Amino acid sequence: MIRIDYDRCDNCNVCWQACLAMVIDRGPVVRPEGETLCIECGHCYAVCPRGAITVLGYEEEEARELPAERPVSPEAMMRLLRGRRSCRGFRKGAEVPDEVLQGMIEAASVAPSAHNSRPLKAYVFRDPRTIEDMRRRTLAYYRRMARIFNTPIFAAAWRLCGLDEEEHRILSGAFLMITDPSRDRDVLFYDAPCLLVITAPRLNSMAQGDAWLASENAVLYAETAGVGTCFNGFLIMAANWDRRLLRIMGIPWKERVVGALMVGHAKSEWKREAPRRTIPVKRR
Ligand SMILES: Cc1cc2nc3c(=O)[nH]c(=O)nc-3n(C[C@H](O)[C@H](O)[C@H](O)COP(=O)(O)O)c2cc1C
Repeated sequence: MIRIDYDRCDNCNVCWQACLAMVIDRGPVVRPEGETLCIECGHCYAVCPRGAITVLGYEEEEARELPAERPVSPEAMMRLLRGRRSCRGFRKGAEVPDEVLQGMIEAASVAPSAHNSRPLKAYVFRDPRTIEDMRRRTLAYYRRMARIFNTPIFAAAWRLCGLDEEEHRILSGAFLMITDPSRDRDVLFYDAPCLLVITAPRLNSMAQGDAWLASENAVLYAETAGVGTCFNGFLIMAANWDRRLLRIMGIPWKERVVGALMVGHAKSEWKREAPRRTIPVKRR
């Protein structure tokens, strides 16, 4: 909910224009039903030229003025986006500085959120023993999955359900690949010293999108700090089906693991951008 300081307000009404939830009537005045309508998005606060608005409950937050110029040029942003790659080899024992992790969580916290509901939680794993327990349990899960996925009856059931056969082929191969006992390196977590997991309430479908956006914000922030990241789809899938793994992670069942990132210092440096296809566009 918000409050307007009428000693400062000059009735320009930009707050009224900015309010999606129609908490503010022209005047500006806060509507009586504002209490239930306000999603505390802070748009009225951010746009008010006179600093006349307070978002209740956020009084202690530091109000940083925005610079007149955009902090990142489109060229710099594109270079950052094109230069970011998933890191598949982390320097063993090279810890991620606290301030970088804190920055990643702050970046995740300011991502767009449906209805500004921000129902996400972040979990940071840095204890090598917990990470090892997670690794073992995840691999145990995929050993089971590799057996099931590679039976003819499962493949037939997959087809009968109308599921994507190509996905079945990719997953079957991937499960065999990560559980292959002849592998002499960590092909699940790539020796990452830290895992960052973002969860959303299991039964809230919109929140899944929030969590993806939050995770990508964290990835991009890490990139600016020279810290490597990589999503881990294996951990995401296993954690959402295997209660024992979720217990090891200390995450309650009512939360769904959406974003799972390995975080650390990359073993090798990228020298150049790789070619990528632009997504097909239909203009109408
Ligand atoms: C949802 C999701 C899950 C992923 N899971 C894994 C994974 O388990 N292991 C891995 O090495 N890379 C994983 N990746 C990284 C992709 O393989 C990678 O984004 C893709 O190959 C393109 O490479 P780039 O990110 O370097 O541009 C995942 C990416 C996404 C978006």
